[in-house]
Amino acid sequence: MTHARQHRIQVVAHRGASEDAPEHTLAAYKKAIEDGADALECDVRLTADGHLVCVHDRRVNRTSNGRGAVSALELADLAALDFGSWKNPDAWRGRDEEPDWEHRPGDAGGPGDPSDTSVLTLERLLELVADAGRPVELAIETKHPTRWAGQVEERLLLLLKRFGLDAPPAAEPSPVRVMSFSARSLHRVRAASPTLPTVYLMQFVTPRLRDGRLPEGVRIAGPSIRLVRNHPVYVERLKRAGHQVHVWTVNDLKDVDLCADLGVDAIITNRPRAVLRHLGG
Ligand code: G3P
Ligand code: CA
Repeated sequence: MTHARQHRIQVVAHRGASEDAPEHTLAAYKKAIEDGADALECDVRLTADGHLVCVHDRRVNRTSNGRGAVSALELADLAALDFGSWKNPDAWRGRDEEPDWEHRPGDAGGPGDPSDTSVLTLERLLELVADAGRPVELAIETKHPTRWAGQVEERLLLLLKRFGLDAPPAAEPSPVRVMSFSARSLHRVRAASPTLPTVYLMQFVTPRLRDGRLPEGVRIAGPSIRLVRNHPVYVERLKRAGHQVHVWTVNDLKDVDLCADLGVDAIITNRPRAVLRHLGG
């Protein structure tokens, strides 16, 4: 069933098209762009030598063939690891598509291209977005920002500046936004770059949420789908207070319908193609 869109819901690919391809790899983000995602979500962490890389967990153990904390490894150490093999290649090439016989593993540009599943720097992801051939937004989440006392945000803003993305005109939609569970991290971003939109991520009911309030200067709320399912009234409250609401991680199509009915502004999903189809996009 296709759910009629009452308004345009932005579909954001969570860690790329991470149902189909290994999360946070170039392969996952290329697939998300191919699938028509409006935006890409990524988590960023600092390596020991100060590079921002797209990795969700504190350690690389789950998503690569290596071990150790991202913060203790240098970019060269991470570049030697394989971030793709943990996920069955037959699954991530797209289950309802014919195999792409034009590209065998190892061929440049093919689904088995090693560079598509090596560690992804935020810089490379920004280049991919710049070359997408259509507008694709980027929602960047700062992970464990307190450990680095502002360095994650500092490096992030320097990198965005190189791409001309750190100070978007206030009156226009920004191609980049910064998300965090940490109000302090968002505060640092706003202090340095007041027009860059920020998203406050939430997974528990707090007095702030009960009142439909966000940290000072934050305009976008990012509740989990569980929070939305259990307390839809808070979405209404946040919307009434003039905030946008971006919900994660919405993979069940019944939840997509719930978000659409509540007037949610963006859905963050591992399955951008399925969600877009469901929404009739
Ligand atoms: O988009 C927000 C969502 O990604 C937060 O949870 O654990 O997937 O980073 P997590
Ligand atoms: Ca995230």
